[in-house]
Order: sequence, then structure tokens, then C-alpha cells
Amino acid sequence: MNDKPVILVTRKLPDAVEARLKRDYEARLNPDDTLYSKEELIERARGADGILPCHTEHFSAEVIGRLPEEVKIVANFSVGFDHVDIAAAKKRGLVVTNPPDVLSDATAELTMMLMIGAARRASEGERLVRTGEWKDWSPAFMVGTQVTGKRLGILGMGRVGQVTARRARGFDMEIHYHDVRRLPPEVEEGAQYHGTLEDMLPICDFLSIHCNATPETTGLMNAERFALLPDGAIFVNAARGAIHVDDDLIEALQSGKLKAAGIDAYNNEPTIDPRFAKLANTFLMPHIGSATTETRDAMGFRALDNLDAFFAGDEPSDRVA
Ligand code: DGY
Repeated sequence: MNDKPVILVTRKLPDAVEARLKRDYEARLNPDDTLYSKEELIERARGADGILPCHTEHFSAEVIGRLPEEVKIVANFSVGFDHVDIAAAKKRGLVVTNPPDVLSDATAELTMMLMIGAARRASEGERLVRTGEWKDWSPAFMVGTQVTGKRLGILGMGRVGQVTARRARGFDMEIHYHDVRRLPPEVEEGAQYHGTLEDMLPICDFLSIHCNATPETTGLMNAERFALLPDGAIFVNAARGAIHVDDDLIEALQSGKLKAAGIDAYNNEPTIDPRFAKLANTFLMPHIGSATTETRDAMGFRALDNLDAFFAGDEPSDRVA
């Protein structure tokens, strides 16, 4: 008799994570990595004790309401949990976890890449070399913005924001941040706190987004707030597209208010606003902040630690509902 809990795994996970899943659970894997529709997700969850999804599956109040009652836990592979209606999960008594910490280094690395790539016109330069259109060198050729010594504003000084600040200090950047709460001095490491975003924006040579997407942060970077940045500022978003308003960001890039943007997180992924790709001053990545072998393994293991705790009758350490 098999008394292992049944876990629906919605996407193809790293081999080492799937091996542990198969050892400890009756795992319903997705070897073809098909993206399940809402109806498929609900159907496949029949008889499952838990689900291990990614941010690509949406657990709206409707989906949560229709999940089979035997599903007791959603142990996310993604650290962001804006794809889950937390209030609806709490109401139904559905446990929800995420894997914090383990992707901070990888995401901060990508943030630095976005910052430097946008400032130093990496997309334009690479295109010139690849297309054979590079014809000459001159002092005026491909001149970008220096990152070293500039003022970096971090919106959301959680785990990823803090690692980004540390990496940016390696470029002698002056760190400013806004968050709902001020950090203790030993965590601030000299970063300057701003009680309001409006107070921080005018000093940001670079602005990097690291907050969660919540009803409060959705659309925070709108036309009014882009206008508060210094002329020629550089905008970076490796968190969630929901934080910026597409039309307002594109307008700021077209008008030259923003010198450039480095973006890894968009609205309506992967069908993003086509204007982003047409702009020469954007450096664009396809939501790969956590996409390193080490980090993807660690995300899966952390989701499994949460499942293990739950099915052992303990409190999962990363419970968000
Ligand atoms: C996360 O973990 O939230 C990343 O954006 C990938 O889902």
C-alpha cells in the first residue's frame, strides 16, 4: 500500500528536485513542461494532497474555491506569491508557502546585469556586433552612463534588495531605500532610509524595484512618480511588472526622461507590450532572475522542506497563508 502524500507538480523541475520528490512522495510530474489551463490544473489536482506550482499557475479565489478538498497545501517554487489569492487561501484553510532567501543572490546578480546593461547600452552594442553593422570606433561611439559612484534607490529593501545593495556597494554606489519599515542599522549598512517613495525618487540616478506585487504596490511607478526622478535616470525592474505602468514607463523612455531601462519582469508575461522591444534604450531579459542551476535546485529543495514539514505535522517555516 502506498501511503505517501500525492503531490501535483505543475512544471518540469530540476532533476535533483524531481528525484527527491519521487523518493518521498507520490509525485505527479509534468515531464513535457506543459502549461496547464485553469481547468486542467483543477482536474489534475483531484486526489492530490498538495500542489507544487510556479508563478505561471494562477490560484485566483475562483480556482481556490474549486480545488478538490483533499488539496491541503500549495508549496510554491516561486518566491513571489502574487499568483495566489492569499485571502481566499486563508478563508479556505489552504496552507501556502514560498521559498525565500535562496534566490536572492541570483536575482541580485541579474539586477546588476540589468543596471549595467541598460547604462552601457548592451542591447545596442550586441546587436551591432552580431549583425555586422559595427563599422568604426570613435570617442563619440556608443557612449553610455557610468554606474560607479552613482546613487541607487531601492524600492523594497527585503532580502533581494539587501543583496543588491551589497553588490552595488562594490561599484561604490550610494545606497538609498524606501520600504514600509526602516531596517535596523546593522542591516542598513549605511543605506539612507526614505520614509516616502516621493522623498527618495528625486535623488535616484538608478531606481531598482524589489518589492512584492500587492494591491498597494501595483502601479506604484506611474507617470507622476517617473516625473519625480532626475532627468536621465535609469529604471530597473527584476521583481514584478505590476509595479510599473507600461504606458507611463514607455512614455518616460520615449521622451528621454529616463535614459534607459533594464527589465526582467513585465505585465502580461510572456505577451509583453511590443513597444519595449522597439526601443533602443531598453535592455530586456525574459524573467530569468532566479535562473541558475544552483538557485533552481535550492528553490525546489526549499519547497520540498515546506512540504516535508507540513506532512510531518509541523509548521512549514515559510508559510505565507
Ligand atoms: C520568483 O520566484 O518569484 C521568480 O520570479 C520566479 O517565479
